Amino acid sequence: MWGGRYASGPAEIMEEINASIDFDKRMARQDIQGSLAHAAMLAETGILSREDVAAISGGLKTVFEEIEAGSFTFSRALEDIHMNIESRLKDLIGPVAGRLHTGRSRNDQVATDNRLWVRDTIDTLDAQIRDLQMALAEKAHGFAGAVMPGFTHLQSAQPVTFGHHLLAYVEMLGRDRGRLADARKRLNECPLGAAALAGTSFPIDREMTAKALGFDRPTANSLDSVADRDFALETLSAASICAVHLSRFSEEIVLWMTPQFAFIRLSDKFTTGSSIMPQKKNPDAAELIRGKSGRIFGALQALLVVMKGLPLTYSKDMQEDKEGMFDALQSLSLCLAAMTGMVHDMEPDTRAMKRWAGAGFSTATDLADWLVRVLDMPFRDAHHVTGRLVAMAEAQKTGLEKLSLAQMQSVEPRITDEIFKVLGVERSVKSRVSYGGTAPANVKRQARRWLTRLEKEAG
Ligand code: ARG
Repeated sequence: MWGGRYASGPAEIMEEINASIDFDKRMARQDIQGSLAHAAMLAETGILSREDVAAISGGLKTVFEEIEAGSFTFSRALEDIHMNIESRLKDLIGPVAGRLHTGRSRNDQVATDNRLWVRDTIDTLDAQIRDLQMALAEKAHGFAGAVMPGFTHLQSAQPVTFGHHLLAYVEMLGRDRGRLADARKRLNECPLGAAALAGTSFPIDREMTAKALGFDRPTANSLDSVADRDFALETLSAASICAVHLSRFSEEIVLWMTPQFAFIRLSDKFTTGSSIMPQKKNPDAAELIRGKSGRIFGALQALLVVMKGLPLTYSKDMQEDKEGMFDALQSLSLCLAAMTGMVHDMEPDTRAMKRWAGAGFSTATDLADWLVRVLDMPFRDAHHVTGRLVAMAEAQKTGLEKLSLAQMQSVEPRITDEIFKVLGVERSVKSRVSYGGTAPANVKRQARRWLTRLEKEAG
């Protein structure tokens, strides 16, 4: 491509470190899409003749078919996807192929391809997150009233419902989609036509190529156009936060799957056995989702570090934007699919969850609230009285509901046997009717609201 100035080819090791074709061939579709739009614009503006552009477009389509069919030979000597495609175009249609690069550079070309690829991927991820939300909301609707322990510090805190717990993740995933949509909005400007860095002297029509490629508008500054990788960073940030959510949920699945918790069962589809311990059913899918979050965060970190010291505009360092990003976003996609499958597969053991919902004096707050409501005690005093009752029950190795009325009255004489009504876990969750609270009727309503919304979005 630069044979004019060059007398010899690159060292073998130069070719090795320079080539990106092994990973950027993933952008073949986007590269051809971009070239077709660029070529059409060159014809429309009269920069190239219609015949030349017809030959170029026809050739590009053939190249794409070859790539799709798997018959295209990728060459490392040709460095990257852009030059591989252009070189094959030349084989197919002859020297006229060389006219395609009029008024553009690989710098704006790769920025365009990259944005198109990220945009496509965001759209896929959005639909996948929506599917996961749907699976969670369906399960939440079915188990809106299934009582389970709610934890803080992983200590029994207050009873909640399984549906409520699942809907917490639906909310998180909703924000993840919001962040991706936000990133998509900002990335949707077209760098094509910024050329190497300064723009071009050809009378190109950037509005036209932007529109043809589904961008909202062309980017406004040619230097920024080729130097910017914010769109990748922003998408990786959103992906990382989503991965945090999937990882936390995975951790809970791992915990819930232990015989000690035994809150859920997963079928053979999402577990593996052990080669030595015949009884084992390991939650590998959840563990892998938890584990893959590491490479997703890593890709974000790596790109931040790659970019932070680069002077404007393009430097070859920026070729390092792709591998990690491809891997991270595809890993997230895989995790989302596996998580959705697992949620469908998951069978809660409502008896086990209910049994443990009452453990650890989890209705102590209900008792304190009763003292406030019925005896008009200030909450801090009620907290103290309840604390003494908990200590008493603990000393007797029993639950609060097992204390006798006389024992209760030895701590606070005004207590009546009405108090026992608030010590059950069912009663406890039913009472949490504040907006966003865990009362089963609330949870059912929220699950239905989500399902209606998600079904509408799915169309
Ligand atoms: N393969 C290159 C990349 O991914 C394409 C851009 C090359 N531009 C250049 N000036 N060498 O960044």
